[in-house]
This record gives sequence, structure tokens and C-alpha cells, in this order.
Amino acid sequence: MCGIVGYIGKREKREFLLDGLRELEYRGYDSAGIAVLHQNEINYFKAGGKLDNLIEKTKDFRSIGFGLGIAHTRWATHGKPTEINAHPHWGEFSFVIHNGIIENYMEIKKELQSEGVVFLSQTDSEVIVHLFEKFISQNLTPQIAFEKTVQSLKGAFAVLLISKVASETIFFAKNAVPLILGKSSIDEIFFGSSDAPLIGFADEVTYLEDGTYGWANKEEIQIYKGSQKLKPVFKPLNTSKIYAQKDGFRFFMEKEIYEQSAVASETLMGRIKDDKVFLEELNGYDFNDIDEIKICACGTSYHAALTSSYLFERLAKIRCSVEIASEFRYKEPLLDKKTLFLVISQSGETADTLEALKMAKRAGLKTLSICNVDNSSIVRLSDATILTRAGIEKGVASTKAFATQVLSLWLLALHVAKFNNNISDEKCTSEIKAIRGIPAVLKVDEEIHEKLHRLSKRYLHGHGFFFIGRDIFFPLALEGALKLKEISYLHAEGYPAGEMKHGPIALADSTLFTVALMPQNMLYDKTKSNVEELSARDATILAISPKEFVLADDFIKTQPYEHPMSEFFEMMVITQLLALEISIRLGNDVDMPRNLAKSVTVE
Ligand code: M6R
Repeated sequence: MCGIVGYIGKREKREFLLDGLRELEYRGYDSAGIAVLHQNEINYFKAGGKLDNLIEKTKDFRSIGFGLGIAHTRWATHGKPTEINAHPHWGEFSFVIHNGIIENYMEIKKELQSEGVVFLSQTDSEVIVHLFEKFISQNLTPQIAFEKTVQSLKGAFAVLLISKVASETIFFAKNAVPLILGKSSIDEIFFGSSDAPLIGFADEVTYLEDGTYGWANKEEIQIYKGSQKLKPVFKPLNTSKIYAQKDGFRFFMEKEIYEQSAVASETLMGRIKDDKVFLEELNGYDFNDIDEIKICACGTSYHAALTSSYLFERLAKIRCSVEIASEFRYKEPLLDKKTLFLVISQSGETADTLEALKMAKRAGLKTLSICNVDNSSIVRLSDATILTRAGIEKGVASTKAFATQVLSLWLLALHVAKFNNNISDEKCTSEIKAIRGIPAVLKVDEEIHEKLHRLSKRYLHGHGFFFIGRDIFFPLALEGALKLKEISYLHAEGYPAGEMKHGPIALADSTLFTVALMPQNMLYDKTKSNVEELSARDATILAISPKEFVLADDFIKTQPYEHPMSEFFEMMVITQLLALEISIRLGNDVDMPRNLAKSVTVE
């Protein structure tokens, strides 16, 4: 995900901006750039790949004395991760950096092109700087020109713009993407897409509201919402770097759970248009000769795979089998060239998954990967990759990576369904409507979080947990149990609800905790009967459902969504928070649980 840093003051600009970008590296990026305005001259530098490339390019550049600068790390969405697509983008006399997506950029771009403007990049962001300069050429003041520019944009954006026409000012705008403005006692002004680059420099900060824009220079900071001038509320900035990186959350895992809504929007960005799925990565990828999909993965990624197997068969009407990569490798599998081999991995480096992929390649199968890390071994080896765009996941227990894997797989199932003409337009439209709603579903409900915090104290003992569910809620039960055992070290199992009576029900007593996933849109009555069977044997039931359930010992009421996948994502967040709260109560290191590593590069 992109990062933004901005500065006005006397400090050496290059060093401050590059250090700031370093603080944002954890978000993930594939190119970077800076622009510095000093004595009415603008110097700019861009580089593809790691920040070290930009550091090398700028090593002889210094900017001493009063001036201003903007800096950006880019995670490609519109246009490839090339140097020309890196930010800042420029016009004749102005430079811009932007996070987010300009939904109406095509319209604006066409209009500007028809007026003779030449675009250098493939990005949506470049329209901002040309639009600003167009308004300047109409003799508007820089402030009005910027205001009109912002009013023309639709979508999500955090924008910083500098221009020779206002050589002491940074113009800014914020909508649905974070942007923070800070100041220090020595008349410096700072911008950041999170607190991290500002720690140790800014004394106080204001978290800009959605729909705001304005400008800052050493004389004034003006912030507007519509035509209304706002009085910014500045708060002291915490001085701990780690606290800042966690945005005030207790653990990275908690922060990552709360980030899921935003990263789901990133996953979807540019991939749905006019009720159709567009997976640019699969242009030219032919599914005609494919009659089966085989998926290989480990851990949480395996659970995403299992979830998607229901979607591939149900939506795309294509056979789908799923295997744990470490099992697949040694079973001497029979592989058929009509099988598409799909691997799923957050890190792209998991040894077993990588080796399974190599086996499939050797057998001549078509391959595809779902991955969160561009340029990882799995990405490099696959014929094509759908990047999940979750940003760097620091917590060992995977949360936002899982959410974005499932979302990407859902898009892929619809893409295959459409390719093979196996889905009606009406069905496709209703699926896309549900997909569009997922970022909202993933917003954490603070009341539910608080309730789980309170409930968690009742679940610290006992002889184990069963998470149960049916259909797609079975892999979710597996994932809920894995989350809990990874970070709480309590025994937990995921089970198909209908399978309990074939053995595990023998364990039922009051100290067996059952987390029952009871969605209203997926086999509710069947699941309910299975839960009743457990309740009759005195198991303690935590029911998660939109429907009241009288036999529940504890109950988390969910939203009455109409689509099972919406219920899936809401329940996913609840099971993640349950694991988190239990683990925190037990005093465990949530982000670095014992015996586990984030990337498992040994078999
Ligand atoms: O990077 P990968 O997705 O390939 O990793 C696979 C598993 O190691 C991983 O999902 C693991 O199970 C997580 N710790 C789960 O939270």
C-alpha cells in the first residue's frame, strides 16, 4: 500500500523524506520518489524497487535552508510498477503524490488529452497535477485552482501537491485514505500517511477528516470541508515508534484485523467495473482447456483454498480439489494437463507450496498463484499471479492476508464462471453486489469487540474448543480454530458441524467450548440441529448468528446479511477478535507466538 510523507521547514529535506519513507516501508511498495521545492526550483527523483535504489539516486542531493518536499512509496494498482509510474507526477511547474484511486480519472484524462495535455504515466494520479495546472492557466489563484481540482475528483485519495506558483505551500486533500498533518514548535509542518514518519519531529498532529482539503505554509494552515472552513484540532503525538507503527493498537494482529476493510478495498480496486470482474493479470490466460482446478497451500492459505473450492464448484461449475502442500508432494499425485494448478501463499516463500508448484510445472500443468508478496519465489515461478494487496502482514497469525485471499479467490471464481459461460448475468450481478459490500462488512463493530473482550475471560480454561460450521463455514471453523490455537496455545479444532456425532461428540461436557457458526443463508436448520445435539450433552455453546438461539450460553448477534459470503466475512472478524482477546488475557505475545515463524521456508 502506498505511503506519503511531506515537509515544510528548514531541515535537510532529502534526509527527512527518505527516513520518513523508511518508516512506511512495512506497508509494502514497489517504487518510490521525492520532489523538493527550494528557492523556486523543483528537484525530483524516482526509482523502481526498493528504497535503497532511491537513496542511491539521490546520494549527491542536499537541500539546506527553508523549503518543502513531498515523498511517496507506490504499491501499483493502475499501471505497472515502473519508474515512470512512480510518484511524484509532474506537469509544467507542479508535482503531485497520491494514495488511493481516482475513479473518474479516465473521463478527466480524455478531456485533458483532447485539450492537448500529454500524459507520461499509466496512473490515475497524474490527472491531478494536469487538472490543477489547467485551472491555473485560467488565471485562478493556486488555492481556488486546487479547490476546483479536488472537487473534480471522485474516489479515495490522499494528495499532496507542490507548485512553483505557490513556492512555500503544500496543498493537500483527503478522502477515505489516511492523511495526518503535524507541526512542531519551530514552525515546521509535516504530513504522513501514518504517524510513523512524524514521530520525534512533530509535537502535535491532526488526523484529517474525509472530504477535507487545504494548504499549509509557514504563515497559515487552512483546512476546508466543502465551502466551510474548519478549525483543526491538534493532539500531542505519542513518541514511541512501535506505538506509531501499530497506530495505537496493542498488537500488529489487532491493527491488521482493523485494517481488513481498507485492504479489501485495495484488493478490489480496479478489478470490478460495470458489474464485471476485470483481472488484468489474467489477460490472455485461457481457461478453455481446463476441466479441473487443483489448489495447494498450507495453514491459513489452505483454509482460503478450501473456502474457494465451494465457490469454484458452485459459481464456476468447475471441479475443484484442495490439498495440503506437504501431503501433495509425497503422494505421487496423478496430474493431468487439463488441470489448472493454483497455489495460495501470503509470503510466496513457503517451501512446501513452492515445491508443489515446481512439481506441477515439471508435469506441464498451467499454473496460477494467489499471493501477497510481489517478486516472491512463488510469484516468479507461476504463469500468472493475482496479488492480494493486503500490505505487509506483521502478526504471525494471518488475518488480513486470509481475508484478501478469499476475496481474490471469489473474484477468480467469477472470472472463470464468466469465461466458461457458466453463470447468468443476474447471478453475476448479485455476486458482484455482495463483493462490493465486503469492505463495509469487514469494518470492526466496536460493540462486538467489547463484548468479545468481556466474554474472553470465560474461555481461558476447559479442555478445548470446537469451532463448527457447514459448507464455507467449515473452512472458516478450521481457520477460527487455527487462529485460537496459534496465539492462545489452547487446544482448538475446526470440524464440519454434521460430523460431530461421528466421534468428537464423545468429548462433550460443560468444559468443552463450542463456537458455532450459524449463518442464516447457509444450512441454518441443519447446523442448528447439530448444535442442539451438543447442547443436549452439556457442551458450552458460543453461538455466532443473526438469529437468536435460545440454547446458546453466549451469543454474538451478527447482521442479517443476504449473502452467505457477507456472513462469512463478518464471522471471520469475530473469530479473529475472539482469539486475540483470549490470547491477550492469557498474557501471550500475540504477534510472535512461541514456536512459529511468519514465513516457513523449510519443509
Ligand atoms: O505464507 P503462506 O501463506 O504460504 O503461509 C502458510 C502458513 O504457514 C500460514 O498461513 C500459517 O498457517 C499462519 N501462521 C496462519 O496464521
